[in-house]
Amino acid sequence: MIGTRMKGLDVGKIMADFPILNRVVNGKPLAYLDNSATSQKPLQVMEAISHYYAHSNSNIHRGVHQLSAESTAAYEEAHSKAAAFIGASSMEEIVFTKNTTESINLLAYGLGSRLGKGDEIVVTQMEHHSNLVPWQQAAKRAGATLKFIEIDQKGELKMESIEGSITKKTRVVSVVHASNALGTVNDIRMIGEVAHENGSVFIVDGAQSVPHMPVDVKAIGCDFLAFSGHKMLGPTGTGVLFGRRDMLEETEPFIFGGDMIREVSFGESRWNALPWKFEAGTPNISGGIGLGAAIDYLQGIGMEKIEEQEKSLTSYAFKQLETIKGLKIYGPPPEKRIGVISFNISGVHAHDVAEILNGEGIAIRGGHHCAMPLMHLLGVAGSARASFYLYNTREEVDRLAAALEKVKKIFSV
Ligand SMILES: Cc1ncc(COP(=O)(O)O)c(C=O)c1O
Repeated sequence: MIGTRMKGLDVGKIMADFPILNRVVNGKPLAYLDNSATSQKPLQVMEAISHYYAHSNSNIHRGVHQLSAESTAAYEEAHSKAAAFIGASSMEEIVFTKNTTESINLLAYGLGSRLGKGDEIVVTQMEHHSNLVPWQQAAKRAGATLKFIEIDQKGELKMESIEGSITKKTRVVSVVHASNALGTVNDIRMIGEVAHENGSVFIVDGAQSVPHMPVDVKAIGCDFLAFSGHKMLGPTGTGVLFGRRDMLEETEPFIFGGDMIREVSFGESRWNALPWKFEAGTPNISGGIGLGAAIDYLQGIGMEKIEEQEKSLTSYAFKQLETIKGLKIYGPPPEKRIGVISFNISGVHAHDVAEILNGEGIAIRGGHHCAMPLMHLLGVAGSARASFYLYNTREEVDRLAAALEKVKKIFSV
């Protein structure tokens, strides 16, 4: 397939693993450019899930029978795969959740005892609502103050604001690694150092970084890392919270019930070992196993190669989109971002852009991208957003650019 073979990555071969990419939408081949919302799933993930249901379906950590032992082993192995994927020390440091949102809520509740009146929590102005609203609520519960690291005109964090916001009063710093609305990749290693120098816990929202680049929890120096399995080829309803062992041991569970206990009397309970202390009730067993298969798939290709392919595609898309008069791209240049391009066409609502593109078989998102305060800061109600993954091609970018010219024609702008 012309144009799908990029440096070291055979995109044509990859596309063959994703049956949904053969769909025709409104008479046109589907170009799926809404990967920030959720990714598509390869056959290997679907097969892992159906194999589990066809062969081993059973509850985990409960039965001594063969099927239960197999399910338990497969589910635990998926934790080990996730640990290896992000450089965690062991599977005890990996809690399966249903998404990044749940991972961050777990922390906003579980770290509550660290927060008191007059304490400070620091996030940035470019957070997704899921790394903002839980901290607004935690601050309210504790009588703490929520502070924001500011962004500059280019959509990057201001250095002086990082140093100014994080102080000895800061108990929690929770920062997005890569912005879903601007594409900006933040220097989280440096922010983590400032957080730790001030005695704060450091949390990273990796929802948009972990699926697209190599992320190593020791290299970035975080205490916690939250991400979503469904954005990295895994099934919906899967997410991960990494926590350094000592930090997870200090963190209170957030949901209580079966499997998260070691011992229960009528009056008291003691918690189970890590990570099960945080996985109350029957978990999403098939989802976890599917996520393990997604990790195998990504590792089989290599995260460095995926990052390189997406960078090259993003630079190409920038060049194509920059030639369109009246189109404004938000955020930093391609070399400082992930494969997310947020834009507006002057005089056209982002929803109209998304709708016309849908008519061309192109799936993008139009709206506030769950970052309303950031949109207000940019002075817009929303934007159109194209977001790429390993199976996207230059032809799809060309179709995007042509469809945007069509939008302009329809609106005479
Ligand atoms: C940066 C960022 N954080 C958090 C989330 C929330 O992810 P989920 O909906 O899987 O909880 C998203 C989702 O788009 C995101 O882009």
